[in-house]
Amino acid sequence: MKRIVVLGSTGSIGTQTLDVARRHADKLEVVALAAGTRADGLLAQARELGVRHLAVGDGRLVGEPVADELAAQARGEGSLGFGAQAVADLVRLPEADIVVNALVGAAGLRASYETLRAGKVLALANKESLVVGGDLIMPLAAQVDAQRRAAGAAPAVGPAGALMPIDSEHGAIYQCLLGEDAREVARLWVTASGGPFRGRTRAELAAITPAQALAHPTWSMGAKISIDSSTLMNKGLEVIEAHHLFGMPYDRISVVVQPQSAIHSMVEYSDGSVKAHLGTTDMRIPIQFALSYPERWDAPVEPLDFTKLGSLEFAAPDTGTFRCLALARAAGERGGTLPCAMNAANEVAVAAFLAEEGTYLGIAACVEAVMDAHEVQPVESLEQLEAVDAWARARAREWIAAQ
Ligand SMILES: NC(=O)c1ccc[n+]([C@@H]2O[C@H](COP(=O)([O-])OP(=O)(O)OC[C@H]3O[C@@H](n4cnc5c(N)ncnc54)[C@H](OP(=O)(O)O)[C@@H]3O)[C@@H](O)[C@H]2O)c1
Repeated sequence: MKRIVVLGSTGSIGTQTLDVARRHADKLEVVALAAGTRADGLLAQARELGVRHLAVGDGRLVGEPVADELAAQARGEGSLGFGAQAVADLVRLPEADIVVNALVGAAGLRASYETLRAGKVLALANKESLVVGGDLIMPLAAQVDAQRRAAGAAPAVGPAGALMPIDSEHGAIYQCLLGEDAREVARLWVTASGGPFRGRTRAELAAITPAQALAHPTWSMGAKISIDSSTLMNKGLEVIEAHHLFGMPYDRISVVVQPQSAIHSMVEYSDGSVKAHLGTTDMRIPIQFALSYPERWDAPVEPLDFTKLGSLEFAAPDTGTFRCLALARAAGERGGTLPCAMNAANEVAVAAFLAEEGTYLGIAACVEAVMDAHEVQPVESLEQLEAVDAWARARAREWIAAQ
């Protein structure tokens, strides 16, 4: 039995993780849940699954009636906390083996860091953790891998599995790399759907509304990642994520638009062979793989019917129109604290766009302005990154207010 903590349980990835846990109740036990604001949803999940360790990110909910009901659910052996620290504290529970980090944004960094520091497996949806803090997270993951090998907890062959990506592209690359020698990898190909505005010009993007940008063609996701997918910032974040996860230099990570989203990513080898990962567009498959590794478990998903798939298209991304991809790649290549500042500016600009306080094209412009103003330092600590994040958010808010 693998015992899991789900951070962000009320969100898109969180609810799909619980679907996987329900389906494999003989193999997965949910021991803790954390949400941000949807305390009623958290309570319903806790009651249904019998979970007694609970945390609510929004500390203002502590005086609400739902807090009493959550406390009743946690009575006895359980625990209930409010605020960011209470969410991060769940990862250290002695009864937990795996932490699914499905929080959104840089707010997930501390939980990723603490999970690995506690020697647990990190099943990571929160890509911002690696974008912002990859320089801190990857050495910790290597330590946990070594501990798992020493304790006989790692599989006999293949990666030790301390850090399992949930992002479908990275899960795909992870699987394409199994059984291969990393020195023979020539290039990682990260696929992109191209988002809902593929083929549009910059002029056509000027009047885009939040409702239009939230309608993703192939995936149903949370609001922030949906906007990031439409601007191609999501792909930029994924390039940085791939760089850290697979130790690959940026000049050997390419993005290709594959509008059908049937190919989840590819690995090209030094002999010219390319391994591609295909599958139905259902996030429960990569979530389940991150939890089942090194095994594969059955999944009642619609199998891909190749006779009905039709043609697969491929194209280069239009980084002139969708500038966020180029900005994120530039931030990754420069490294240090620049991806942290870039990510924070993007979070603020996306929130402003969703609140109709900023424009669609303003997202990339705001990110660029904050990146230009940032004095890059080498990454040293979590506290330093939190300070850079706060500085970049303030700078981004000033920029938006001045428009
Ligand atoms: N959705 C996808 O298909 C997908 C695919 C690949 C990667 N990802 C990545 O997975 C992460 C989650 O995405 P999502 O689409 O699932 O987002 P989402 O639907 O917006 O869900 C976010 C979850 O995090 C919780 N949360 C937010 N802030 C919190 C805080 N300060 N403290 C505690 N909980 C907090 C939310 O709680 P409340 O709702 O209760 O406030 C919610 O449960 C992102 O990093 C995203 O890039 C998502």
